[in-house]
Amino acid sequence: QSSALWGGRFGGGPADALAALSKSTHFDWRLAPYDIAGSKAHAKVLHQAGLLTDDDLTKMLAGLDELLADVLAGRFVAAEDDEDVHTALERGLLDRLGAELGGRLRAGRSRNDQVATLFKSYLRDHGRIIARLVLDQVTTLADQAERHLGVAMPGRTHLQHAQPVLLSHQLLAHAWPLIRDLDRLADWDARVAADSPYGSGALAGSSLGLDPQFVATELGFTDSSPNSIDGTAARDFVAEFAFVAAQIGVDLSRQAEEVIIWATKEFGFVELDDAYSTGSSIMPQKKNPDIAELARGKSGRLIGNLTGLLATLKAQPLAYNRDLQEDKEPVFDSVDTLEVLLPAFTGMVRTLRFNTSRLEELAPQGFSLATDIAEWLVRQQVPFRVAHELAGACVQACEKRGIELWDLTDEELAVISPSLTPEVRSVLSVQGSIASRNARGGTAQARVTEQLTELRTRAATH
Ligand code: ARG
Repeated sequence: QSSALWGGRFGGGPADALAALSKSTHFDWRLAPYDIAGSKAHAKVLHQAGLLTDDDLTKMLAGLDELLADVLAGRFVAAEDDEDVHTALERGLLDRLGAELGGRLRAGRSRNDQVATLFKSYLRDHGRIIARLVLDQVTTLADQAERHLGVAMPGRTHLQHAQPVLLSHQLLAHAWPLIRDLDRLADWDARVAADSPYGSGALAGSSLGLDPQFVATELGFTDSSPNSIDGTAARDFVAEFAFVAAQIGVDLSRQAEEVIIWATKEFGFVELDDAYSTGSSIMPQKKNPDIAELARGKSGRLIGNLTGLLATLKAQPLAYNRDLQEDKEPVFDSVDTLEVLLPAFTGMVRTLRFNTSRLEELAPQGFSLATDIAEWLVRQQVPFRVAHELAGACVQACEKRGIELWDLTDEELAVISPSLTPEVRSVLSVQGSIASRNARGGTAQARVTEQLTELRTRAATH
């Protein structure tokens, strides 16, 4: 006989094809501990409302605890004809407590308010796990930045040499987006915490005098849903979580791309640790940045999960529709993806070795000090338009002769413009250029050191 929760008005069980389509235990089983926590809170409000005696409540809570222990130990598992995790756990409870007592728990709740609440609880827990892993990556970037303070490298725009920057500055530029992702996770959590749907019932709320705010508090929420229809129908919390997950993936993919390029022979900026790189089955010399490539690849999957969810939600009428069961697999996949990706990625970055002499050597190449000439002229009261032209003329002169900017003689500089006195040489060095960019946020070493402290302080708030 079927364990379905809705047999009363039906002449027979569901067709096999329907059961196969409708079934979700193969993916929603991970919600089981959250379902049982919800049931315990629900039993307590039924008791408060006089719908369970003291003795009933004691037995009910003990039965639920036993069921939880069995679930966690793998002694209780979904049966072939259990429609979903909620159905299976009700069957488990009835087995343990008998139909007379076990059958009382379902009063005043629906799988619609149940699943919306449990899903929030599950995502809040995993949001915290992911935040911890993101924080590890932030700390790892900060540690690498601190270890390499003072090392210059070519800063790029359009992937072309632009201006010299400190390697630490570049590394911290990857940490700040992750700090914002941590902020997003915290904002998301506070919003979700204030909206526990338990007590919304199927959509209209409960007539049994149950206290939704009590349940909310029991389950670690700060408040219950202000609108029972919204409580059961809304899934923006899922989409928003999937967005943050996708954004974390995209942020990692931008770091990943640099690691991939930096590890090439042509760049030679970094060497990957053996434990965090892979070889080739045919080419014995290969050392491949697979972690970075998987990060880049998995960011596509995280984006797909988000867009798939939004497409599922689009234009669904209020309140619950079975379409909403499609909300779980994509975001479970996002959770699993980040929880497996982040530790590997952090290990890769922690063990990355930088070829600092190569970074320093390339920092001033590609005429990356041309802006410094222009800005030096501005400090001598030359209008920037003119200064830009003159610095450009210096570059052109160098290109013609195949030399660098600092190779121009005093005479050659004077021919380009009398304003280009020998004092301009003070900015024609990487250290001079970097030291001159000393406003807040700039790449001067003193500012980067402050930035590092600021970043660590921000990280400590998470
Ligand atoms: N398993 C469903 C889901 O995840 C919850 C069940 C609600 N089903 C229903 N027919 N009202 O969305």
